[in-house]
Amino acid sequence: MFNHSTIERNATLLLVLGLLTVAVGGIVEVVPLFYLQNTIEKVEGMRPYTPLELVGRNIYVREGCYVCHSQMIRPFRDETERYGHYSLAAESMFDHPFQWGSKRTGPDLARVGNKYSDDWHREHLTNPRSVVPESVMPGYSFLSQTDVDTRYMDEHLIANRRVGVPYTDDMIANAKIDLAAQATDSGDGAEDLLKRYPKAQIRDFDGQPDKLTEMDALVAYLQMLGTLVDFSTFKAEAESR
Ligand code: HEC
Repeated sequence: MFNHSTIERNATLLLVLGLLTVAVGGIVEVVPLFYLQNTIEKVEGMRPYTPLELVGRNIYVREGCYVCHSQMIRPFRDETERYGHYSLAAESMFDHPFQWGSKRTGPDLARVGNKYSDDWHREHLTNPRSVVPESVMPGYSFLSQTDVDTRYMDEHLIANRRVGVPYTDDMIANAKIDLAAQATDSGDGAEDLLKRYPKAQIRDFDGQPDKLTEMDALVAYLQMLGTLVDFSTFKAEAESR
């Protein structure tokens, strides 16, 4: 019925058929991703964020750190030599929303954990120029004076569970206890916290032992970034086959 010249002479028909063709291609590519179990390779070491890290992550989002910092190391030599192993999909699977970012005014932060001391982070976040004289990063000194709002900690974990983060009932019930237990040197509750969240770093992050501030949370988050997967033993599925 239609030969090609009919289609080419009728702009509306060409448009409709063109869109239809593109839509089929799109559906064929996208739909299987929703049914595949293995779009994200499972990687040992990944766990949901601790309550303190989660609060830190929220502050990171609230303050717009992603406007200047990415959290995605691309698999190119110049990137891996500077920042470390390229980022794995699994490393951001508990991020809602993800923090890959598309702008690097400052360096990538995907593996900044354990690169500097807590003191350095505190100094740097309070006044970046005090440790990196040429820095254009703004200061966030108020974080040390702002207490963490602990009221909705459990709801917070529940909200994350709704979007797929595997927080257990036990983690939710103990959210406030874990939050306080991670930001102290006292050791109270440390054992339970580590059982729930392996590799959690536990200490007073903000240098104010009697206070639980947003500085505690943000530094705890930064010190965790990129430290969960052990890359000395990690082998990508494709490489290990
Ligand atoms: C206006 C852009 C800008 C914003 C916003 C910004 N930074 Fe930065 N950041 C930089 C620049 C530039 C550097 C490199 C110079 C320096 O170290 O201060 C940097 C460096 C850093 C470093 C050191 C990284 C390394 O490997 O040496 C950390 C950590 C950091 N920023 C965290 C943050 C956090 C957390 C926030 C949000 C609270 C933030 N930044 C917001 C621009 C920014």
